[in-house]
Amino acid sequence: MILKDRIAIVTGGGSGIGQAGAAIMAREGAHVVVVDRSAKASEETVTSIAAKGGSAEPLAIDVTDDAALSNGIAEVLRRHGRIDILHNHAGAQVAGDLEQVEVAGFDRSWNLNVRAHFMAARLVMPSMRAAGRGVIVNTSSSSGVLYDREMIAYTTTKHAVIAMTRQMAGDYAKYGVRINALCPGWVDTPFNEPFITQMGGRGAIEAYIREKVPLGRWANVDEIAEAILFLVSDRSSYMTGQVLVVDGGETVV
Ligand SMILES: NC(=O)c1ccc[n+]([C@@H]2O[C@H](COP(=O)([O-])OP(=O)(O)OC[C@H]3O[C@@H](n4cnc5c(N)ncnc54)[C@H](O)[C@@H]3O)[C@@H](O)[C@H]2O)c1
Repeated sequence: MILKDRIAIVTGGGSGIGQAGAAIMAREGAHVVVVDRSAKASEETVTSIAAKGGSAEPLAIDVTDDAALSNGIAEVLRRHGRIDILHNHAGAQVAGDLEQVEVAGFDRSWNLNVRAHFMAARLVMPSMRAAGRGVIVNTSSSSGVLYDREMIAYTTTKHAVIAMTRQMAGDYAKYGVRINALCPGWVDTPFNEPFITQMGGRGAIEAYIREKVPLGRWANVDEIAEAILFLVSDRSSYMTGQVLVVDGGETVV
């Protein structure tokens, strides 16, 4: 087990990619704090980890609530004494070009996709710095490196996640803390429902993916979890400030 006894926090761990990432970390011996604004979803992830003999606990908070995030992380530190891994994953898509997007939607995107990653990293950093080690993964997206049609809030925030990751990595490498960004491509999770509706249904998105993605299909969450495991484990021990794109080749064409 390559994460034996590590203490990990995964935000957005109640569904999809975050859930698969939490599961693979638990499989490899980490104790995982499953953060989700849905108490039911975080409990479900914890239950399914426990059913496979893993160790996890739920933390039902909205990560954009600074006080709740701060109290939650303080409580994890109080009980476990340290945090070895933070995967900042919760994020949202708000559609619209410059004139269409609601300003409140842009602000919501910023608060969740960027500011909550910033806050969580800031809250865990003192303990990682003191320990002289730690790993942070910030979920960006292929939209963090690509133009994404009529999605200004999403692409702006996901590009910002990469800039923030590189900046944090440069500043904190001297403390032994590694920070990388993960850019998934099309992954079949509930996250894409609004985009599927916008595109005109399941058939339209399937056709789009067949045409735009060289591998011609969606990723499944377990394929992204393997990349998460690489980034949070010592297998990537000489890697910091980098962007790992897992997108079936979409960004090469
Ligand atoms: N699915 C994709 O195709 C894809 C592609 C690239 C990047 N991403 C990124 O992955 C993340 C979404 O993951 P997913 O696809 O597994 O989605 P998902 O919808 O399956 O899961 C997202 C989880 O995050 C939780 N969440 C949302 N807002 C929250 C908040 N404010 N506080 C706490 N929890 C919150 C939800 O309750 C949900 O359980 C986003 O950061 C997204 O940008 C997804």
